Amino acid sequence: MDRIQITGGTPLIGSIQISGAKNAALPLLIASLLTEDRLTLKNVPNLADVNLLVRILRNHGVDLAVDGKRPGSSTHLGDTFHLTARDIVDTTAPYELVSRMRASFWVLGPLIARMRQAKVSLPGGCAIGTRPVDLHLTGLKQLGAEIDIEAGYVVARAPRGLHGAHIVFPKVSVGATHNVLLAAVLAKGETLIENAAREPEIGDVAECLVKMGSKIEGIGTSVLRIQGRDRMEGAVHTVVPDRIETGTFAMAVAATGGDVTLEGARSIHVKHALEVLAQTGTRVEDLGTGIRVTRTSGGILPISVETQPFPGFPTDLQAQLMALLTRAGGTSVIRETIFENRFMHVQELARLGADIQLHGDTATVKGVQSLTGAPVMATDLRASVSLVIAGLMAEGTTTINRVYHLDRGFEQLEQKLSRCGAQIERIASH
Ligand code: EPZ
Repeated sequence: MDRIQITGGTPLIGSIQISGAKNAALPLLIASLLTEDRLTLKNVPNLADVNLLVRILRNHGVDLAVDGKRPGSSTHLGDTFHLTARDIVDTTAPYELVSRMRASFWVLGPLIARMRQAKVSLPGGCAIGTRPVDLHLTGLKQLGAEIDIEAGYVVARAPRGLHGAHIVFPKVSVGATHNVLLAAVLAKGETLIENAAREPEIGDVAECLVKMGSKIEGIGTSVLRIQGRDRMEGAVHTVVPDRIETGTFAMAVAATGGDVTLEGARSIHVKHALEVLAQTGTRVEDLGTGIRVTRTSGGILPISVETQPFPGFPTDLQAQLMALLTRAGGTSVIRETIFENRFMHVQELARLGADIQLHGDTATVKGVQSLTGAPVMATDLRASVSLVIAGLMAEGTTTINRVYHLDRGFEQLEQKLSRCGAQIERIASH
């Protein structure tokens, strides 16, 4: 397995092109199941999770053509995908594939809406928590799906098709909102979703669905009103820039010091995280076409933060923020309210010399004078990248094992960082 080796201590200086958002690209790819016409997606990031989802969609009968790069086109701008699901040949999403990526469970909504039947493996738990799917299933049942659990599979039927419903989610869930939204567009009549997740990736998917012919009111709010249609059409849509990648690089600059412009980043999507960074003593400037992050002098200030659904501080940036705060001049407190087990990076950060105490959902981070490089490994994507940030701050060499976690969600991570002066390289396994 590949490893990443980092020699810390160099400030980051330069510019980084922000890629298309993984967590928007995945449901957008799934939206191709809704129509027999062609859905063209631009700015699709080249990631292991995208490739895995393509395998799943091909299994259902989706054809994919990817535009080749033209002479002179940038290597770090995403791909253009043309997806056509003329005939859905298989409505089963098998355990071997769904268990490897949770978002693939979201094929359930579009399959049941278009084909009136679907059999999708339960995704199971994962490193960051138990992650149930009860909200997905309750929502789809309200739209008229009959659902049974058989041998680890969700077996859904809607012989007369789905119908509109008034769904009030008792808890904010990104995945359940996607799943229900992707089904409601082909249900008969109106669907009202209350307490919908407001993450920008949901807005991006909703805007694509509008281009595909859907009528959706309330995009960007917690109340979505959807008029169902008999059929959806093809469309051309560009994947929104990745706000988690944006926040991650912003924290890396705050951690190492330096001056980096995050090209294409949208500050409105990372407003809370940027405010938190400003509180740590980092300068953040909205350039319109991107965000400039600077920390040239002064130490890192301690802060208290808790994760919340959008527009709050994202759980997907919690580990990266913690890495930054390990070097703050004082004690910080981070409370994780979304996932019950998302502190797997704590023991690895401790290997570099961080001083972090855990009590239930709260981590108390006492800033230390310096971190020292060590071999580390992580069990999920965001935890892995927090170790990259810590490695960039540490004295000496840090080796990060299990790099495949990073490849799931960060496009050209080492290249982007090394172009800004970081001493980082991938060591291929033999
Ligand atoms: C999405 O996961 C993201 N994944 C996650 O990013 C992100 O951390 C999470 O939203 C929260 O922002 C993708 O977009 C592909 P949820 P999702 O349903 O949809 C509970 C990454 O690193 N819940 O919003 O699975 C659940 O257990 C990933 O890119 C139920 O109780 O998250 C959690 O506590 C990791 N019942 C909370 O809701 C349900 O039926 C929020 O989960 C569904 C969820």
